[in-house]
Amino acid sequence: MNIINNRELGFDELDELVRPAPEVVEFEEVANKMVSRRGFLGGGAAVGAGAFVMGSTTLAASKALAAGAPESRLAFNMVKANTLDTVTVPEGYKWEVVASWGDPLFSNAPAFDAATGGTGVSQELAFGDHNDGMAFFSKDGKQIMAINNEYTNGDTLHANRSDGMPKTTDDVRKNKAAHGVSIIEVAQRGGNWGVVQDSVYNRRITADTEMDITGPARGHKWMQTSADPKGLVAKGTWNNCGNGQTPWGTYLTCEENFNGYFTANDKNYKMPEAFKRYGISSEGRYNWAMADDRFNLAKEPNEPNRFGYVVEIDPLDPTSRPKKRTALGRFKHENAELTIAANGHVVVYLGDDERGEFLYRFISKHKYLAGGHNRDLLEEGTLYVAKFHDNNRGEWVALTPKTTGMTEAEISIHTRMAASKVGATTMDRPEWVASHPHKAEVYCALTNNKNRGVKPNAGGDATPAGGPNPRVKNNFGQIVRWMPMDSDHTHNEFKWDLFVLAGNPAVYDDANAGSKNINQDNMFNSPDGLKFDSKGLLWIQTDGNYSNEKGFQGQGNNQMLVGDPETGEIRRFLVGPKECEITGSAWNAGRTTMFISIQHPGEKGNSHWPNGGNSVPRSSVIAISREDGAVIG
Ligand code: FEO
Ligand code: CA
Ligand code: CA
Repeated sequence: MNIINNRELGFDELDELVRPAPEVVEFEEVANKMVSRRGFLGGGAAVGAGAFVMGSTTLAASKALAAGAPESRLAFNMVKANTLDTVTVPEGYKWEVVASWGDPLFSNAPAFDAATGGTGVSQELAFGDHNDGMAFFSKDGKQIMAINNEYTNGDTLHANRSDGMPKTTDDVRKNKAAHGVSIIEVAQRGGNWGVVQDSVYNRRITADTEMDITGPARGHKWMQTSADPKGLVAKGTWNNCGNGQTPWGTYLTCEENFNGYFTANDKNYKMPEAFKRYGISSEGRYNWAMADDRFNLAKEPNEPNRFGYVVEIDPLDPTSRPKKRTALGRFKHENAELTIAANGHVVVYLGDDERGEFLYRFISKHKYLAGGHNRDLLEEGTLYVAKFHDNNRGEWVALTPKTTGMTEAEISIHTRMAASKVGATTMDRPEWVASHPHKAEVYCALTNNKNRGVKPNAGGDATPAGGPNPRVKNNFGQIVRWMPMDSDHTHNEFKWDLFVLAGNPAVYDDANAGSKNINQDNMFNSPDGLKFDSKGLLWIQTDGNYSNEKGFQGQGNNQMLVGDPETGEIRRFLVGPKECEITGSAWNAGRTTMFISIQHPGEKGNSHWPNGGNSVPRSSVIAISREDGAVIG
């Protein structure tokens, strides 16, 4: 068994390290498509920043802004980029920590121990690590939050181990318990937000929590293991990245880089092709197999098929069992953006965050009925994958036995392969999707893709530059938006454009300068988290290069910005501490507080946020409010 010990590698970099390169790299095809696309754009050999297919509102905005001081809906003064080890918000706003990794949720739990990072038992009773997506719920005057705990950083979690790796059975128990979801009651006391210890709602869902497998994959032979020979009950969830929320009061947590947790201790173990597509390898980055055989591929070859799903949780019923919704497909799920179409069907938009993977849509078989029995609407439906055309049109292609030659169960387990079969568009890492609250218009952050135009995706699908992925070796990312025809989210055709192409106009004067609504004051790279507020403003969070050097000079730490879809205007609202990403968001019921995640501050060892001094950095949820107590956004 080989454990990859370089914890500075990103998940995507790890995947590339362990995955053998495809035998045929279709450079020629890629090159040919590039040439024809240039012809289409009429930009000649040098594709300039203005040549891309930008939204008309985006271009209108740049003209209006140039004319000086238009009416703006963004009611704050922009924060400047910086590299400080703190959170910076606009004048008139304040922030405070609500919950940090290791905070005990119960009064009988030990206090956080920074010297060791705690034990298995303390972690099971405490707030998880690396908080990410989140949602806010209210019940009987109580305020409850469900918050994802995506992954861990061994140097802080296992502070007592020189190489930051789990070495004992209890280390593995702690590591598994730091993953999953934290459900907490929160309240404002003396004006400050915090966790209500011992609330009946406080609950940890971890890599060991039992959950029902529902949908087409339930009971399939690929889902059967020695502990669960019928393939009905999975144990746990991990790498919970983005999220969703349903109108029937449940929380959706999305399993992203589930692959990196498996290893094999048998050198004769032969990796199935299907595992390679998902980046599953005999070399993982967590040593969970040392204490739990289900992470040993040689012993439990079907265990990985039980992860990579969207899980539905009822945070308001602490005794409820989470449900894996396999109808929403298996891939590296970012978030699950749910909307109810005009005809009553539930529509969920889903991104698969890996270079060259796809963008999906789920439509429920049954319709949503206000006050009706909606609890199992995500159990049955049809999955679609997006095909974008260069002429600003696109279509959703259904993944069915007829279009793919696969059974429904196979489509829900090997979703990537099904989507490859119908020729879906390879994307620049689809991160969060956000649906406009007042009109049928949907946005997706395509964070970056250094392989665009360079090499195919893990399934061998070509990645030519074009459509919503216009730049080769795309280091900055962009946000695409689509408008379903007839404003019908269940329509199979849509129009699309780019809301923004991120870049650095201080360094570049070519395509890497970004679109016209990017300037030296609001520039950023790698859009990731996206969410609309009730006013229809788009909150954009970044998880990108924070070196503040070379092509990223002047962009500072990761940040949060607000965009106005009507004008294309974008302003920086917040800058995070060193080496963090900004992700996840939720508002309280009155919308006077916005909650966000500060994830992995100091991931390379250079932060002491939030406690300062020489303290261990801790991922935390923060609350942002206005000093005058008015509504945010
Ligand atoms: Fe966990 Fe794609 O971000
Ligand atoms: Ca993300
Ligand atoms: Ca990201």
